[in-house]
Amino acid sequence: MARKMVYHVLLAFLLLTIISVVSVRYEPNWDSLDSRPLPAWYDAAKIGIFIHWGVFSVPSVESEWFWWDWEGAKTKTVVDFMKANYPPDFTYADFAKNFKAEFFNASEWADIFQASGAQYIVLTSKHHEGFTNWPSRYSFNWNSQDVGPARDLVGELAAAIRNNTDMFFGLYHSLFEWFHPLYLQDKANKWQTQKFVESKTMPELYEIVNRYKPDVIWSDGDWEAPDTYWNSTNFIAWLYNDSPVKDSVVTNDRWGQGIMCKHGGFLTCSDRYNPGKLQKRKWENAMTIDKQSWGYRRNTKLSEFLTTDELVGTLVETVSCGGNMLVNVGPTSDGKIIPVFEERLRELGQWLKVNSEAIYGSHPWTYQNDTVTPNVWYTSLKISMEQMLYAIFLDWPTNKTVHLGVPKTAEWTTVYLVGREDLGPVNFTTLHPQGVVLEVPQIPTQELPCQWAWTFVFQGVLQYTKTKISSTTAVYAIVLDWPTNGKLQLGAPKMDSSGVVYLLGYRQQVKFSPGGQGGITIMLPEFADGTMPCKHAWVFRMLGVKN
Ligand SMILES: *[C@@H]1O[C@H](CO)[C@@H](O)[C@H](O)[C@H]1NC(C)=O
Ligand SMILES: *[C@@H]1O[C@H](CO)[C@@H](O)[C@H](O)[C@H]1NC(C)=O
Ligand SMILES: *[C@@H]1O[C@H](CO)[C@@H](O)[C@H](O)[C@H]1NC(C)=O
Ligand SMILES: *[C@@H]1O[C@H](CO)[C@@H](O)[C@H](O)[C@H]1NC(C)=O
Ligand SMILES: *[C@@H]1O[C@H](CO)[C@@H](O)[C@H](O)[C@H]1NC(C)=O
Ligand SMILES: *[C@@H]1O[C@H](CO)[C@@H](O)[C@H](O)[C@H]1NC(C)=O
Repeated sequence: MARKMVYHVLLAFLLLTIISVVSVRYEPNWDSLDSRPLPAWYDAAKIGIFIHWGVFSVPSVESEWFWWDWEGAKTKTVVDFMKANYPPDFTYADFAKNFKAEFFNASEWADIFQASGAQYIVLTSKHHEGFTNWPSRYSFNWNSQDVGPARDLVGELAAAIRNNTDMFFGLYHSLFEWFHPLYLQDKANKWQTQKFVESKTMPELYEIVNRYKPDVIWSDGDWEAPDTYWNSTNFIAWLYNDSPVKDSVVTNDRWGQGIMCKHGGFLTCSDRYNPGKLQKRKWENAMTIDKQSWGYRRNTKLSEFLTTDELVGTLVETVSCGGNMLVNVGPTSDGKIIPVFEERLRELGQWLKVNSEAIYGSHPWTYQNDTVTPNVWYTSLKISMEQMLYAIFLDWPTNKTVHLGVPKTAEWTTVYLVGREDLGPVNFTTLHPQGVVLEVPQIPTQELPCQWAWTFVFQGVLQYTKTKISSTTAVYAIVLDWPTNGKLQLGAPKMDSSGVVYLLGYRQQVKFSPGGQGGITIMLPEFADGTMPCKHAWVFRMLGVKN
């Protein structure tokens, strides 16, 4: 029940934010584009799935940079691999006919991604090789309809994500192409000509936005040329002002030399960016389960995959510091998400099922990690006036007690182990001026609520900035009969709408309305049979009662 309410509150919040977006026109310069508020869904979402899929999935050795490594950098291992296994006249383009996607079932992918708890996906529509995973008018004979799968891969995944899930759909797009003749010509002209931009990369971007209405444009391949060459600000101004996704779309920061980590919708800064401390702007940790590659590799080793423990740990650290985690899987050329990736994603989803309220819609707290006990990360969630504080332990404490250096508890604070609220409140000792010693619930490992990281939720901690709550004493009303009409009327306590009412043993605020002549009416939560916090008598705690 508690969790459901969290979602309702969040949903109402999201709707309000969407409705309140007023029409502002953005100018094609970074000052103006950076002033656009990030659509609220993105920060609340916290987790996305990144998918690197293309012709590079056919050789599937080394990485998605295979073509470059072979014919650009001439990396010895890749050159030797080609010599040993392919005829001398074999070209990279010859791989495309073996990009068959014969097992690709977009609904299956959508199920796996949804089960991971991710709220959005980002698919490579085109990587640096230039092959488009949709039938582009601007990529003649080098797209997934004309060669290889003979299917619109982007379109199929977009349809399945939108039909079968509530996730947002995003597209990755590489501005440059390693070997495109027009790009190389513009480069030779020191970016004084824009033939490639004019006839290839910009028309493609407009095409994918108009056709697939992506909620994320994840740009890449920008670093050799300035943003003025790419015409980035003109494109983004159109995206924010006039495109079919102008209200929902978010963009990243890879829009030209020197732009990354400075401008754009959210900041990616570098691959696998995970600064470990709070950032001023919204950021994203784009990372991989295969530690060495974004594209699928047939020759990976088990030890090269992140464990679920590491994956959950990375998510927790990222979210505590205000980031989103974009976790990458590389499908095979025949269209499968291999079982190791699938298992990691489903296990992440199992963890999120228990711990969702500490992640989705959460905000960074005053502190990101604890100052005494290592590997404890904090998030917080504001529900009306009440701030819930989550302390997420990456290691289950082995002592009977554990000392946290930063939460300021008070007599009315309640602490629960998330997922095992049935154990009752966690006992604790308040330290002065701050900090708390928790008595760790003594339960066997197999009865812990999850396998990888454990959340303690604090309700009613004192804020580091003074609020009314911290200077108010609590008044308790003990009710011997549970009213059957859904309302409890109390004549004595004087409270205005800044007050807060709790039902002890129930982890949410209870709604109330102030009466005219003093007194309040409490709207009672509904409980299914057997789920009331106790029998016989119920205690309401009121904060903010006036003398
Ligand atoms: C795709 O997978 C779904 C299950 O997610 C299944 O119901 C459907 O029959 C599959 N489609 C094909 C063509 O195999
Ligand atoms: C999505 O829904 C549309 C319209 O209901 C349907 O035509 C299409 O086959 C569905 N696609 C998938 C992948 O479920
Ligand atoms: C850059 O964008 C502007 C505005 O959309 C457009 O008029 C111009 O043709 C674009 N230039 C190139 C090279 O794409
Ligand atoms: C908090 O996290 C930072 C960044 O990861 C780390 O340097 C610091 O040691 C952590 N503090 C504790 C007490 O774990
Ligand atoms: C465990 O408790 C003992 C005694 O209270 C204390 O000395 C020790 O530092 C604690 N260890 C950890 C890891 O908290
Ligand atoms: C809190 O302490 C009481 C009394 O010692 C005990 O019965 C209860 O199990 C403790 N709660 C938890 C969650 O450990």
